[in-house]
Amino acid sequence: MQIFLDTAEIDAITARLDAGLVDGVTTNPSLIAKAGAAVFDRIAEICDAVDGPVSAEVVATDTDGMIAEGRRLAEIAPNVVIKLPLTGDGLIACRRFAEEGLQTNVTLCFSANQALLAAKAGASYISPFVGRIEDAGGDGIGLLEDIRAIYDQYGYETEILAASLRGPAHVEAAALAGCDAATIPPKVFDQMVSHALTDKGLAAFLADWKATGRSGLD
Ligand code: E4P
Repeated sequence: MQIFLDTAEIDAITARLDAGLVDGVTTNPSLIAKAGAAVFDRIAEICDAVDGPVSAEVVATDTDGMIAEGRRLAEIAPNVVIKLPLTGDGLIACRRFAEEGLQTNVTLCFSANQALLAAKAGASYISPFVGRIEDAGGDGIGLLEDIRAIYDQYGYETEILAASLRGPAHVEAAALAGCDAATIPPKVFDQMVSHALTDKGLAAFLADWKATGRSGLD
C-alpha cells in the first residue's frame, strides 16, 4: 500500500523521506492555509522534494474554473495530481482531465455511489474520508470495503486513497480493506513506527549489553 503524507508543511515532509517510505503527498486548501504558504510556490517545493504523486486542490466550484485552476496546477510539475471536489461540476472536470491524460484525485467522498461515479468519470484516485464519516456516526472503514468490492467487481482502475485517517488503527484497517493508498498526517506516520514493547525490548537489550562492560559490538 502506498503511504502519502497529508500535509503542506515542507519540513514535516522532508524530515520523513530518508527511509523511502513516503510515496506521495496530499494537500488541501485548509492545510495550505494552515501552513501560511502560497499555493503554487508550496506545491512546487513539495514536488521538488517528493518524486511521487502530489495532490493539489482547486478552489473554484464551477467546471470551467476548476479546469482553469487544474491546468495551472498541472503545469507546476509532472507529478501534480489535480484534486477536485466530488460535486457534479467536479466530476465533469474530472472527465475532461482524464481525456487529457492528467491525473486527478476526487476528494470529499462519503458514499459508495459517489466513488462509483468518480471511477466512471475516470478519476485516478478516489479519497473516502474515514475520520469525518466516523465523526458523523457512520462506518468509514465499511465504506472503504464497499468501494473495494465495487471497483473489483467492475474492474475500475481508480485507486482507493483512504483519507481523513486519524490514527494507526485507521491505517491498518485501510490496508486490510485493500486500499491502494492511505494519506496520513505526519503525527500518524510517526505513531505507526512506534510500539511500547519495541521500546521496552530495546531498553532491556541495551541494559544487558551495558552490564557486560563492553563498548559497541567489540
Ligand atoms: C485528504 O485528502 C484530506 O486532506 C484529509 O485526509 C482530510 O483529513 P481531516 O478530515 O482530518 O481534515
